[in-house]
Amino acid sequence: MKTIAWAPSNIAFIKYWGKYNEKLRLPANSSISMNLSEAYTITSVEFNERFEKDVFLLNGKQIEDGEALRVFEHLKMIKELSKMKNHARIESKNNFPKASGIASSASGFAALTLAASKASGLELSEKELSILSRLGSGSACRSIPEGFVEWKKGKTNTDSYAFSLFPPDYWELYDLIAVVGEGNKKISSTEGHAKAESSPFYKTRIKGMERKVSEIKKALSKKDFTHLGEIVEEEAVNMHSVMMTSVPPLFYWLPGTLSVMTQVLDLRKNGTECYFTIDAGPNVHVICQKSDFQLIKKKLSGVGEVKRILVNKVGKGAHLVE
Ligand code: PMV
Repeated sequence: MKTIAWAPSNIAFIKYWGKYNEKLRLPANSSISMNLSEAYTITSVEFNERFEKDVFLLNGKQIEDGEALRVFEHLKMIKELSKMKNHARIESKNNFPKASGIASSASGFAALTLAASKASGLELSEKELSILSRLGSGSACRSIPEGFVEWKKGKTNTDSYAFSLFPPDYWELYDLIAVVGEGNKKISSTEGHAKAESSPFYKTRIKGMERKVSEIKKALSKKDFTHLGEIVEEEAVNMHSVMMTSVPPLFYWLPGTLSVMTQVLDLRKNGTECYFTIDAGPNVHVICQKSDFQLIKKKLSGVGEVKRILVNKVGKGAHLVE
């Protein structure tokens, strides 16, 4: 019997960068995100007494090192919790190509947690699934609940989890991902988080986070797109300032990143409202409203370095599929 789970990737409006507990992946601050409707992972997990070892296939290819080690470690924890003795066969597929520069750890660990816990006989609540996903990859805890999500920083393992603020159909926002760089990033986010504190701006950043979280929640509840966008953009630049001033510095941007940012500013100057945000990579997420997305997509396509644009609406949360 195979258990199959679907989980979305998510884009953070208020970012998680830096942890106060490395092992438990407890974040330095709370964060807010939106699930992505068109960037997801589907994972199947099967436990069988005939299997001789755990096997992990990613996009049809068996892998045994790198990413697979993190997957096996996560599986081990779920097996311990459920007292499952059998080995597993895990098959994971991302609908977005690995080379698209879209991180798969959030959707990947959320889908794995749901599929493996269910297949091993555990009946977990959404909160428990979020906590368990967090232990695989911090941002994965935000891919469990639906729509617009808050991850409460918490003080211990059991109170640092994510929950839904609003369902996907609450507000028709779009995230147009302008892909300007493909392939794996040189510094993983796990390594990056560990360097955050070395930036002289880190403490100042963290001091302002709870206020920013409450401001963006206000903007969301009022559907105030201007206020939301201004916070989202300031927040992305703030996080990248910490990254760039870490020791050694982390530069995730490419020239194309700046070209897209400039295009977003130009669009706004000419009356089309949209705002950028950027994760630990060079690609730019452009947040906009439904009425403007076609025009913005066309404009972004005209930027020389843009290889493709992935169009996302607000996505559902992780769920089992038949
Ligand atoms: O979950 P991780 O370790 O991949 O960290 C995610 C970090 C950012 O994407 C840069 C920000 C975020 O909150 O998603």
